[in-house]
Amino acid sequence: MCGIVGYIGNKEKKEVMLSGLRELEYRGYDSAGISVLSSDVLSTFKTTGKLINLENKCKDFKSSGFGVAIGHTRWATHGKATEINAHPHFGETSSVVHNGIIENFLEIKTKLESEGKIFLSQTDTEVIIHLFEENLNICSNYLEAFKNTINSLIGSYAILLITKSAPDKIFYAKNGSPLLVGASKDEIYFASSSTPLIGLIDRVCYLEDGDIGVMDIDSFNDLTNIQPMSGEKMSSQKDGYRYFMEKEIYEQHKILQDTIRGRILDNNVNLELPDDFVNGVNRILICACGTSYNAGLSAKYLFEREAKIKTDVVIASEFRYAEPIMEKDSLFIVISQSGETADTLEALKLANKNNLKTLAICNVDNSSIVREAKYSLLTRAGIEKGVASTKAFSSQVMLLWILGIYISQRKNLISKTQIKAQIASIKSSLEAVKVNSYIHDKLKKLSKRYLHGHGFFFIGRDIFYPLALEGALKLKEISYLHAEGYPGGEMKHGPIALADSELFCVSLMPKHLLYDKIKNNTQELSARDATICIVAQEYNDVADDIVLIDKFDSYMEEFFAMMIVLQLLALEIAIRLGNDVDMPRNLAKSVTVE
Ligand code: M6R
Repeated sequence: MCGIVGYIGNKEKKEVMLSGLRELEYRGYDSAGISVLSSDVLSTFKTTGKLINLENKCKDFKSSGFGVAIGHTRWATHGKATEINAHPHFGETSSVVHNGIIENFLEIKTKLESEGKIFLSQTDTEVIIHLFEENLNICSNYLEAFKNTINSLIGSYAILLITKSAPDKIFYAKNGSPLLVGASKDEIYFASSSTPLIGLIDRVCYLEDGDIGVMDIDSFNDLTNIQPMSGEKMSSQKDGYRYFMEKEIYEQHKILQDTIRGRILDNNVNLELPDDFVNGVNRILICACGTSYNAGLSAKYLFEREAKIKTDVVIASEFRYAEPIMEKDSLFIVISQSGETADTLEALKLANKNNLKTLAICNVDNSSIVREAKYSLLTRAGIEKGVASTKAFSSQVMLLWILGIYISQRKNLISKTQIKAQIASIKSSLEAVKVNSYIHDKLKKLSKRYLHGHGFFFIGRDIFYPLALEGALKLKEISYLHAEGYPGGEMKHGPIALADSELFCVSLMPKHLLYDKIKNNTQELSARDATICIVAQEYNDVADDIVLIDKFDSYMEEFFAMMIVLQLLALEIAIRLGNDVDMPRNLAKSVTVE
């Protein structure tokens, strides 16, 4: 989703902006722009499409010496993805970038227009700059003008503003959208996530909601909550893989070793939670979006069957406004790869307000969700660049599985033998996520035949139902083909009406969980001529096509092995269709608006 960068210092500001925006590219965007203020000249460049267009547009521009700059990648909310609607938005002497949504922009715009102000764009953001310039005329100083402007806004925002009235400063405000400011010797950087700042700064401050201020080269130390920041720039190479998504699928074997490190012992599990963590917890409520929701739904089956803890799972955007009943003995778990998903964050705030014990399962340390939750556990999947989540999902399921065992171990809900069996299964699941080249080749071939039907059903039962949902989500995200995940038993209650030879049905048939039941459901589709691709350990006669996974002793290993098949199937179909796998159309990696 939208990304922000800002800079105060002596480097070539255009290059700093472009390289910061490149680090945010994977999050998804449809247009981009920068403003540079140096030697009293304010220059703005914006384009639609990829950053290369912006680079070409400003290739002859240079700004040497000290100055300030702001940059933005936009994911359209108000107004189409046009050049005019791209950020920065500028007035006569100032320029602004903004993430989030200004809910009362129409009201402000109408008032300003009635006073003769001309608006160029259809965005909500443009009101900020005109309001600021109007306030500059009436306020005694520029900070007061900025504060008055921000105080007139209702909604969520991370805002950076530069102005010729204060040419060595960046004005900033945060409410609901993430914003960080960092410093190194003689330089200040802003960004909407830590990725563009890694390797450039040695101190960082994660701004809080309600923070409004102005920054110059000397004022960083006036901030509170400054933390050290270290780290090398993460390798953003594809290492010979065609796409980041492919690399991330292959990485899962290594990632899961990190996820379980120090958490799995010989006879028990251990987590970075206080000893009294489970006290007073009798049930679990999980809240998340997208793939993280699918991981949460998988956890429900594990928590209830294996750990004996009652669990409910809700989509975060539905939870927020439903006036949910929150029982005090619930542990409220949010799951998020990015830690910035607006709906999940707001659901978490609601749970905190209701004094629930809250726990974040997250991939990004110091993200808004990690900071908001009372407790957090990191999935340790490393930066995920593909918009379609893969390693984030497997690490979430793995960590949730361990969490379930941890809680039931602490509450004496399951026996030592049961715990040992699950630990053994966790260890062999690490083998199940190794990509087998034979399976990958098979999927490359199969993908030729699965391009032109009228849609896909992914079916599974029990925990293989959320996996079916995830398989369908992966396929639709990157191939743009219509795909739905269903519980196998639900087919005959309506969806089977779609069955004909142009309907592709991917059936997940684990040997160790409800095999006969899912076989029957698959047979019913086959009898109505649907084209059936089964994923299983052994051949059976229902299939038109079959993807054989290795032999495993329990259903969770089969779960992870089938997950790899679904991820690769989506990847290969999308590649055949010529799509941009890592940055699919209309999608953003981190969804910071509701
Ligand atoms: O960062 P989060 O896990 O909170 O994101 C939630 C969803 O937006 C995310 O999982 C989305 O569905 C992915 N594109 C799935 O591949």
